[in-house]
Amino acid sequence: MDQNQLKKLVGEKSVEFVKDNMILGLGTGTTVKYMVDALGKRVQEEGLHITGVTTSERTAQQAKSLGIPLKSVDEVDHIDLTIDGSDEISSDFQGIKGGGAALLFEKIVAINSDKVMWIVDESKLSPKLGSFPLPVEVIPYGSQKVFERFEKKGLNPKFRIDPQTNERVRTDSNNYVIDLYLHEIDHPHTLAKYLISQVGVVEQGLFLDMVNTVIVGRQDGPEVIQV
Ligand code: A5P
Repeated sequence: MDQNQLKKLVGEKSVEFVKDNMILGLGTGTTVKYMVDALGKRVQEEGLHITGVTTSERTAQQAKSLGIPLKSVDEVDHIDLTIDGSDEISSDFQGIKGGGAALLFEKIVAINSDKVMWIVDESKLSPKLGSFPLPVEVIPYGSQKVFERFEKKGLNPKFRIDPQTNERVRTDSNNYVIDLYLHEIDHPHTLAKYLISQVGVVEQGLFLDMVNTVIVGRQDGPEVIQV
């Protein structure tokens, strides 16, 4: 199976955990796209009643097109389960997210969820975080100063550029993303505290102590890990 088939496998597996009347956080990304397709199928074929809370415009468009009813995070009193992708997961189940620039809404939805599930193909697993560049969402005003501070601290920052327009990527909240090329993150909790305390930083992509279930797409089938 290639990477896309593994993504489809875990996307489809994850919706087996969805029960009638659940309020569901719907993540963002290419793996989540398969999950939302599978969820839409259950809604249409089984008449499953769910309410989705989306984490990006992209996911909202897809969910709407499949007839999945949506509410915003502020309109629900709880979220039963959020299913999302991840860019990297360490052996102690910490994660980096934001490769699709949706980290802010993803984190808001995740921390307001009773349970969080990540669905990934096996290439996303690594012993230690850092091989995937760490996304940091910053407000445009003063972002050059934040960038320079990161540079001085040796965090190897790069503004994320949209290859199609050659312009800086804008998030759904119209912010920029600075990616930190760190290679290895020895102390994720310390780094997370430093980053979020910088004025101008809106959110950072370390998702720590947050996940309850990971589904890994492997060649011999999906592996469900309870953390
Ligand atoms: C979006 O900002 C991300 O956090 C995604 O959830 C993550 O990048 C995983 O995306 P893929 O499933 O496309 O790899």
